[in-house]
Amino acid sequence: MTCRQTSTGPRHTSGPHIVESAPPLSLREIFTRFWPYAKPYRWFLWLTLPFIVVAPAIDTARIWLFKVIVDEVLVPRDFGPFWWIALSYVGLTLLAGAIGYGDRYLASWVGGKFILSLRTRLFSHLQGLSLDFFERRPLGDMISRLTSDVAAIESFVLSGIGDALAYILRIVYFAGALLYIQWELALVSLIVAPLFWFVPQHFARVIRRASRERRRRSGSISSVAEESFSNAALVQAYNRQDAETDRFERENLGNFEAHMMSTRARALLSPLVSLAGVISGLMVIGAGVWMLSKGRLSLGELLVFLTYLGGLYGPIRGLGRLSTSIYAASAAAERIAEFQDEKPSVYDRPDALSLRHAHGLIEFENVSFRYPHSPQNALTDVTFRVEPGETLALVGPSGAGKSTIFKLLLRFYDPTAGAIRLDGHDLRNLRVHALREHIAVLLQEALVFDATVRENIAYGRPNATDDEIVRAAKAADAHEFIAGLPNGYETVVGQKGRRLSGGQRQRIAIARAMIRDAPILILDEPTSDLDPESGHRVLEPLRRLMSGRTTIIISHNLMTVREATAILVLKEGRVIEEGAHADLVTRGGTYAALYRLCQDHDAASTIPVSGPGPHQKLAP
Ligand SMILES: Nc1ncnc2c1ncn2[C@@H]1O[C@H](COP(=O)(O)OP(=O)(O)OP(=O)(O)O)[C@@H](O)[C@H]1O
Ligand SMILES: [Mg+2]
Repeated sequence: MTCRQTSTGPRHTSGPHIVESAPPLSLREIFTRFWPYAKPYRWFLWLTLPFIVVAPAIDTARIWLFKVIVDEVLVPRDFGPFWWIALSYVGLTLLAGAIGYGDRYLASWVGGKFILSLRTRLFSHLQGLSLDFFERRPLGDMISRLTSDVAAIESFVLSGIGDALAYILRIVYFAGALLYIQWELALVSLIVAPLFWFVPQHFARVIRRASRERRRRSGSISSVAEESFSNAALVQAYNRQDAETDRFERENLGNFEAHMMSTRARALLSPLVSLAGVISGLMVIGAGVWMLSKGRLSLGELLVFLTYLGGLYGPIRGLGRLSTSIYAASAAAERIAEFQDEKPSVYDRPDALSLRHAHGLIEFENVSFRYPHSPQNALTDVTFRVEPGETLALVGPSGAGKSTIFKLLLRFYDPTAGAIRLDGHDLRNLRVHALREHIAVLLQEALVFDATVRENIAYGRPNATDDEIVRAAKAADAHEFIAGLPNGYETVVGQKGRRLSGGQRQRIAIARAMIRDAPILILDEPTSDLDPESGHRVLEPLRRLMSGRTTIIISHNLMTVREATAILVLKEGRVIEEGAHADLVTRGGTYAALYRLCQDHDAASTIPVSGPGPHQKLAP
C-alpha cells in the first residue's frame, strides 16, 4: 500500500515550434568542416578523376563523328567511310559505358563510406554528451538529423564536386569544339551564356531559405510521430488521436509549403533558361545559314555546331541546379554542425584519476546546483556523508531535489557550488567512466532494451558468464518467472520491455544491478511503479542487493526507509531534517508528521515521503 502524493504537472506540451532552426553557416565553413570525413578516401576520388575527364571527351568525339558522317557520307553520297565511322561509334559508346560504370561505382562507394563514417562519429559524439542535451532535444529530430541530414551532406561534399567538375569539363570541351569549328559563330552563341549563371544566383537565396525550412520541418515531423507513437497508450486513453493527427498534419503542411516555395523558384528558373537557349540557337541558325551560303561553313559543321551548342546548355543548367541542391545540402549540414558543436557539460580533466577500487564513502559538502537554463536552484547548500556499506534514505515532497542528488552523484552534471566526494576524491578529479563503474542504478521505471532477458541482465557487466547471470537472477527472485517465459533467458522482452509486467521488469533491473556488483547503489523509488504485492516481492531481493553496499535510496516504502542508517528530509532543495528513523519520529518535525499521517491510514508498510498535499490520495 502506498501513501504518497502523486501530482506532477502536465509534461506533455505541444507547442507550434517543435524544432528550432540551426545557426546558419557559410558554404566554405561547411566544406572545411565536413571535408575531413571524406579525406581518408581522397585516393579513390583521384581515381574517379580520369573518368570525369575522359567521359565528356568521348562525348565530344562522338558528336564530331556526326559531322564526319554528314560531310563525308551523306553529302557526297559515298558509302566508303561509313564502316570505320560506324565502328568508331560503337567503340566509343562501349568505352563510355565502361567508364560510366566505373565512375558510378567508385562514387557510390566513396559516398557510402563518407556517410558511414560521419553518421557513426556523430552518434558516438551524441553518446558522449551530457544528459541535459537529451532532456532538451526532441528525439525524433535527433533521429532525423542522424539519418536524412547526414545523407544530404554527401551530395554537398562529394557527389556535388564530382558533378560540378564533370559539368565544367563538358562546357570547356564543347565550347572548345565550337570555337574550333567557327570562332565567330561561337562568340555569337556564347553571348547569352552569362545569363545562365546570373539568373540562377537570383533564385538561390529563396531556395536556400526554403531548404532550411524543409529540413527543420522534417525534424518536426519525426518528432511528432515519435512522441505520438511512444505515448500511444496516453493518446488512445484520452481519445486524442485526431488531435495528434492534426499536429502531424500541421508539421507536414509546413514542409509542403516550404517545398512549394522552392519549387516555384525552380520552376520559374527553368523556362527562363530555356528561353535563353532558344534565343541563342536561333541566332546561330541565322548567322550559320548566312555563313553556309558564303561557303565559310560546311553543312556537317553547322549541324554539329548546333549539337554542341544544345549539349552545352545541359551542363550549364546542371550547374545551376547543382547550386540549388547544394543549398539544400547546406541546410542539412547546418543541422549536423549544430550537434557537432554541442559540448558535454561534464568531461574528464586531463589529469583525472581512474579509481580502480572504491570503498563507497560518499560526501556532499555545501552542494548547490542549478539546472542549465533554469532560474532557481534545485539544490542549496546540501551537506551529508554516507559511510561505506551504510544506507541513506532521501525523503521529501515532489520537486524537493531528490533525483537531482542522484544525477549529481552519477556526474550527469557538476555542482554549481560545493563539492561531492567519493572515498575523499572530488568527483571532478575522477574519470567519468571510472566513477560510473562503481555505481549501480535502479530507477522508478525499470529501463530495458529490446533484447533477450540474458542480454538485459548482462548489460550490467558485459563479460558476465551464464552462471553469474543465473545466480544474479536467482538473487533478484527473477529466475523463476524467467524460466517460465517461452524461451527462458533467450526470450526477447520487446521495446521498453512491454512483454513483461512492471514487477518482472524491475526484478530484471535488480538482477542487472546485482551482476554489476558495484560498491555504491542508487535506488530512485524502485517500488513506486509497482502494485503493493509486486512491490513487496521485490523488497527481499532489494535487501539482498543493498547488503554490504553504500546505498542511497529514495523510497516511500516504510520498510526500506526505516531500515536506513540515516534519513535526509529535503524541501525545496534544502536539507531540513536529518537523523535515524527513531530520532526523527521523537523529534516531532516534518518527518514525524508525515510518518504519523501515513500511519493513520496504513500502519502496515508505507510512509509518505512526498508530503501531504491538498489532493493527497491514498491507494486502497
Ligand atoms: N532537467 C531539468 N532541467 C531543469 N530543471 C529541472 C530538471 N530536472 C529537474 N528540475 C527541477 O529541479 C527540481 C528538483 O527536481 P527533482 O527531480 O530532483 O525532484 P524530486 O525530489 O526527485 O521529485 P519527485 O519526487 O517528484 O521525483 C524541480 O523543481 C524540477 O523542476
Ligand atoms: Mg525524482
